[in-house]
Amino acid sequence: MAPLSDTMKIQVEEISSLNGTLILPCFEGCEKPPSKTMNEADRLTRTLIKKILSSEDFTGKSEETINVFGGENKAVIVGVGKKEKLTTKIARDNGAKLLAKLNKKHGKTLTLRFSSDWKLETMNAFVEGMILRDYKYDKYLSKNDDDENDDTPYNLHIQCTPKNVNSLSELCEESQNIATGVHLARDLGNAPPNDLYPMAYAKMAKEWAKEKKNVSLTVIDWEGILENKMGGLENVGKGSSRKPCMVIFEINKPAKGKGNPPIIVGKGITFDTGGISLKPGASMDEMKYDMQGSATVFGLMQALHANGHSEHIIGISCMAENMPSADAYRPGDVIKTYSGKTIEVLNTDAEGRNVLADGLWKSGEFNPKFIIDLATLTGACVVALGHEASGLWSNNDELLEKIRAMGAHVDELAWPMPLLPAFEKEMTGSKIADVRNLGTSRWGGSNTAAAFLKQFVPKMSDEKDAEQYPWAHLDIAGTAWGASTNAMVAHGATGVHVRTLYYLIKNE
Ligand code: BES
Ligand code: MN
Ligand code: ZN
Repeated sequence: MAPLSDTMKIQVEEISSLNGTLILPCFEGCEKPPSKTMNEADRLTRTLIKKILSSEDFTGKSEETINVFGGENKAVIVGVGKKEKLTTKIARDNGAKLLAKLNKKHGKTLTLRFSSDWKLETMNAFVEGMILRDYKYDKYLSKNDDDENDDTPYNLHIQCTPKNVNSLSELCEESQNIATGVHLARDLGNAPPNDLYPMAYAKMAKEWAKEKKNVSLTVIDWEGILENKMGGLENVGKGSSRKPCMVIFEINKPAKGKGNPPIIVGKGITFDTGGISLKPGASMDEMKYDMQGSATVFGLMQALHANGHSEHIIGISCMAENMPSADAYRPGDVIKTYSGKTIEVLNTDAEGRNVLADGLWKSGEFNPKFIIDLATLTGACVVALGHEASGLWSNNDELLEKIRAMGAHVDELAWPMPLLPAFEKEMTGSKIADVRNLGTSRWGGSNTAAAFLKQFVPKMSDEKDAEQYPWAHLDIAGTAWGASTNAMVAHGATGVHVRTLYYLIKNE
């Protein structure tokens, strides 16, 4: 596997020496440099900053930046809005937008100085924004010597009041480890589908797991899929020469018994042509992102592992390429899934739900605490929520609320959507199979998809009226890429919900 991309070097210290370019975030209405923030700056730079802050040219409104180039030191003043109004979202967005504005002239060494007015949480959020935005996907570009882009990582000195140094240092280290997971999830999503196919993902996962003592990795390959009768994966994937597989990540497996792990299941369609129900050509290239659910699973494992997570956790990625061919499954087919339930295939482009049927059912073998699946499942979800929020469905109100609240906290919104009995009835109304993979009309397409998935959520026991395990479904079709309002990313895959799920699982 390509090594994880280099992230910036970070150290947190009290306000001391000034290295490289000074980054000075200032609140609205700040009329002079806060105490100590001018330490070691040359006289001209101090004078210029004082002048700028006391003038009306700089108000300190959010996202306002001024470069102060003139003295021996270079500096950037960054407005972050009113102090009373500073939220983690505003701080994170400002950190990200600042990083996007930096160029060669600022150099790679930065000293970020927070005055004593800043709180731990907002300082960390500002830094987190900088780290998350510090990403580019340029693996396939030929390198040019006089390139604007210099690949040396930033060296960021974060300076704050002495009493905050230790706590901020811990928080920033955690954020940075999480960002390695977010960036990995983006790398996977951005990877071209000719290079990232199901078994290529499996190989990367194996290499990642290799030398990690508390990680075990299982790949159920093509033969395994046939042996296990995983008909969802088999049928979606059989039309491609790149065969499907299921990849199971397990961290901190208990020495005895099954444990009671949270399980995260990801849709991993490395390319979705629609199959025999072929998609139109416009923007079809974007269907390389149709494996972003599985990318988030992998990125989440990295984020948890890097932070020394010590509890049991499982990730299941359902990998396949949906292609039309002489061997492809077709509309009209009835297929038998791993659960034993049959599906009437009415549209081969509704393939994500078919592979997830097997992944969800597999989860039942591990005594899950809860199951959360992530999938770029429906265009209808993008119609409903645009690029601003993932759709969220659940059979358990407590789990739904936890995900909603954590999503809002980290600014990866997950919006509650209805899991109505009427939608379930619609999807179980086939005359010739247990479940149909298409609604009876196009209305409410993301809800019927969720209702379909619910038919494959395992029950807590074999008894007739047994309840299902707590389960939630996140439709990330609108949030996995393409959100121009997401300041954390320039373009391409976002790595959405690595952070939501990291904190959710950490707080379990
Ligand atoms: N991967 C697509 C969903 C999708 C479409 C995600 C556009 C992001 C942007 C999924 O496999 C699909 O094709 N869904 C169909 C379902 C339909 C046939 C019931 C859709 O949304 O049109
Ligand atoms: Mn599809
Ligand atoms: Zn798809």
